[in-house]
Amino acid sequence: MKKILVIGAFGQVGSELVPALRKKYGKDNVVAAWHSKEPDEAAKSAGPTEKVDATKKESIEAVLAQYNIDTIYHLASILSAAGEKNPQLAYFVNNACLYNVLEVAHERRIERVMVPSSIAVFGPDTPRDNTPNETILKPSTMYGISKVHGELLANYYFNKFGVDVRGVRFPGIISNVALPGGGTTDYAVDIFYHAVKHKPYTCFLSPESTLPMMYMPDALKAIIQLAEADVSNLKHHADYNLAAFSFSPAELAATIQEELPDFTIDYKPDFRQAIADSWPRSIDDACARREWGWKPDYTLKAMVKDMIDVLSKKL
Ligand code: SER
Repeated sequence: MKKILVIGAFGQVGSELVPALRKKYGKDNVVAAWHSKEPDEAAKSAGPTEKVDATKKESIEAVLAQYNIDTIYHLASILSAAGEKNPQLAYFVNNACLYNVLEVAHERRIERVMVPSSIAVFGPDTPRDNTPNETILKPSTMYGISKVHGELLANYYFNKFGVDVRGVRFPGIISNVALPGGGTTDYAVDIFYHAVKHKPYTCFLSPESTLPMMYMPDALKAIIQLAEADVSNLKHHADYNLAAFSFSPAELAATIQEELPDFTIDYKPDFRQAIADSWPRSIDDACARREWGWKPDYTLKAMVKDMIDVLSKKL
C-alpha cells in the first residue's frame, strides 16, 4: 500500500500533483505538507494536511512516523529568479531540505523519493539546441547549482545506500490552477491571465528568448510514470531530460492571437533575461523515452487552446 508525503504540496506543481495522486492511490494515502502559508479549510478537507519545515529533519520525521509514509515527493524549492534575489536563502533552503529528505529516506528505508530537477542545471557553456542528457553542467544561478547538487546527491544515495531517488529536469511548466512563483519561465503563465482578461502584457524576456516548456498534464504524467517505472530499466536517477515543445515569447503571443486576436504584447527585459540566455532552447529527451517510455501529449497549439478555455471559464 502506498503512503505518500508531498513536501511543497501547495506550489505550482503540488497543487495539481496532490489531487492526481489522491485520485490514483486514495485520498487518505497522500499527505499534503505545507510550510509558509496555511491552506484554507476547503484544501484541508480534501485529505490529510500537515505543516512540515523541511529545513528541520525532525519535522519531516514526525510526519513519516505518524502516517507510516513509504514514498516522498519533494517539490519545495526556491526557483531561479527568486534565488538570484536571495542566493544565500536559496542555497540554504534548496540544499538543506533535499539533504534532510535523503537522510530520512535512508534511515527509515523509504521505498521511493521523487525530486524534480530542472533545465536550470544547464549553463552558458552547455550546447543550447537539442541539449543532450549527458553534457556540461555549469549553471550560473544558485537555483541551478542546487539542482546539480541534488542530482549528484541522488546518484550518491542510490549507489551508496540504495535509496531509490528519481527525477526529471523540468522545463518551464504552464498551468492554470496555482501560479508559479519566482521562476524565469513564469511569463508563460502570466501572459494567459492577461490575455483572457483582454489586457495587454509586458514580457520580462525579449521576444526571441526561446525556452523549453511543457503543459502541466504532461508534467504530471511524467512524474507519475517515472515513479512507477521498473527500476531495472533505469540507467539514470534524478537527471532525466524531458521535453514537450519550445517557444519564444513572440511565438507564444502569436499563438494566443490566433485564439484572441485583440491580444497585444510589449517587451521590457529585466535581470531574468540573463538567466534565460544561459538555458537551452531545446532538449533531447531520448533517455526518458527509451528508459521509461516518456512521450508528451500536448503541442504548443493544443496547450494554448486548453489554457484559454480553462482560464476563460475560471476568470
Ligand atoms: N521554471 C523554473 C524557473 O524558471 C525552471 O525550472 O526557475
